Amino acid sequence: MTRPRLRIVTGKGGVGKTTVATALALAEAGRGQRTLLAEINGRDRVASVLGIPPVGASICQAGERLSVVDMNPRAAIHEYALMVFRFEAIVHAVFDNRVVRRFLALIPSLGELVMLGKVWFHIQEVQDDRPRFDVVVLDAPSTGHAMSMLRAPAMVQHAIPPGPLRDITRDIIALISDPERTHLHVVTTPEEMPVTEAVELECAAAEVLQMKLGFSVINCRLGPLSAAALEKLEASSDPEVRQVVATLRQRETRRLQGEEQLRRLPAHMLEAAVGLPRLLDALPGRAGVKRLAELLLPALEREEQP
Ligand SMILES: Nc1ncnc2c1ncn2[C@@H]1O[C@H](COP(=O)(O)OP(=O)(O)O)[C@@H](O)[C@H]1O
Ligand SMILES: [Mg+2]
Repeated sequence: MTRPRLRIVTGKGGVGKTTVATALALAEAGRGQRTLLAEINGRDRVASVLGIPPVGASICQAGERLSVVDMNPRAAIHEYALMVFRFEAIVHAVFDNRVVRRFLALIPSLGELVMLGKVWFHIQEVQDDRPRFDVVVLDAPSTGHAMSMLRAPAMVQHAIPPGPLRDITRDIIALISDPERTHLHVVTTPEEMPVTEAVELECAAAEVLQMKLGFSVINCRLGPLSAAALEKLEASSDPEVRQVVATLRQRETRRLQGEEQLRRLPAHMLEAAVGLPRLLDALPGRAGVKRLAELLLPALEREEQP
């Protein structure tokens, strides 16, 4: 039996992490994997992309084999406390919001740790004698916050005494550093700052986080134009055609600048990366993201090959 997979999606803010995480989840569900898409303080971004009612801190169904959850530290701590103490009344008594807030302020990594704890919990959750999910896709925060979240278990482990919480941090570390189970997927666009952060993440994955880098995603990557077709158009003296040619030339310049930025990525990262087009929809919805999912599918299937 293969063990459930965890795909952690990160990158610079605004590069399309949530869009890519949703597309990855749709691709996994589409190829038969029971998938959980987990976002963090997502404010219903995933729900609006998928065209479903707002998603809260409890798992809900978003399609065939696709579940989604929007995690937040307070709800995750509450849920954990409920598991330990079993009764809502006790949890309320010892863990009211004021206490949780103070707790979170005292140990900054705790919120991040508890959310990774929730991910870990769902990865090892069993239902009807088999894992409840085959894959969990985590729409992680952007670069800096993602790194501090992924380092939280190691930080906390050194700071707390032996006990159940330390055992959980050990299990989380084992999960995220297991190359068979957890992949870090970096999303970038062909632009300077996103590529810089992608390079940073690649370096951190190997040096600091000890995590396996999965295929990266180059979002909004422009495809090349046919030089021959451009030349043919350029031969025209029709002013309307010439205007189109000028626009296409600008696009080609932008594309080449983007490709130059991408060459700053380590070669192995660039070679394995999946390029996704910019969708023309004003606000990409489920249908648009499904098209991106189809483009991610070959990379998922390549991973299976020995
Ligand atoms: N491939 C794409 N084509 C068109 N629009 C996109 C694409 N990827 C992302 N977007 C849009 O860009 C914005 C930022 O994307 P989002 O996934 O929320 O990024 P992040 O999670 O990294 O902040 C959103 O409005 C989203 O709809
Ligand atoms: Mg996002």
